[in-house]
Amino acid sequence: MGCAVLIAANWKMHGSLAFADAYFTSAAALRWPEAQQRIVFPPATLLGPARAGAAAAGMVLGAQSIHGAAEGAFTGSLSAEQVAEVGAAWALLGHSERRAQGETDEDVVAQLGAAARAGLRAMVCLGEPLAARNAGQAESFVLAQLAALLAAPGAALGALGAVAYEPLWAIGTGETATPEAAQAMHRCLREALHAQGLGALPLLYGGSVKAENARALLSQNDIDGALVGGASLNLETFHAIARAAIE
Ligand code: 13P
Repeated sequence: MGCAVLIAANWKMHGSLAFADAYFTSAAALRWPEAQQRIVFPPATLLGPARAGAAAAGMVLGAQSIHGAAEGAFTGSLSAEQVAEVGAAWALLGHSERRAQGETDEDVVAQLGAAARAGLRAMVCLGEPLAARNAGQAESFVLAQLAALLAAPGAALGALGAVAYEPLWAIGTGETATPEAAQAMHRCLREALHAQGLGALPLLYGGSVKAENARALLSQNDIDGALVGGASLNLETFHAIARAAIE
């Protein structure tokens, strides 16, 4: 039985002030599993306004992305310090939807350093595209991303709070990795992290996690939690996923 300690919601570019208000007000009235951390990554505009509501619901807020620099001429970007100031405790780094916009492993390492500088915990996403999986190269692809991350300076690595395995072909497609395939990748990641003294880091699975498949995924030995996209926008569903983690 895996110990599902961390359940995260990535709202992506969804949500408004009214949505966040209703979500956290309703969440505060629900009974959530104890000994489990829940993180919500809303759009950055909602971090400040949702700060008190999320805290009342026992949830921690995170930013969906940060820039690697502390300040500068980076139109449209936000620094780790800026999101921390308005209530983020975490930052999501290396999401495939950001990598698809041009972010590289080097950017992720710089962002990890920025997170460390600003006192944020970082959740770093890794995952292979379908072509790599079909070519039998899923593990080598993901391990190469992990190696690039682990090459970060020690001070930056201190900010690493969780790693999320999100196979690209399972994101937003309704297609999920089988629990066995996800477990096999997580085992591989665990061993690589263990070799660096990081074997205790929570390893989350993401990619079309739903109430129906959460239990089978979260009961795997090396799946410590879930990073939920679309299904997290429905509070009842997110609650059911969080509960599945302890059942
Ligand atoms: P879905 O759960 O919508 O597939 O999204 C997964 C994801 O990208 C979470 O970061």
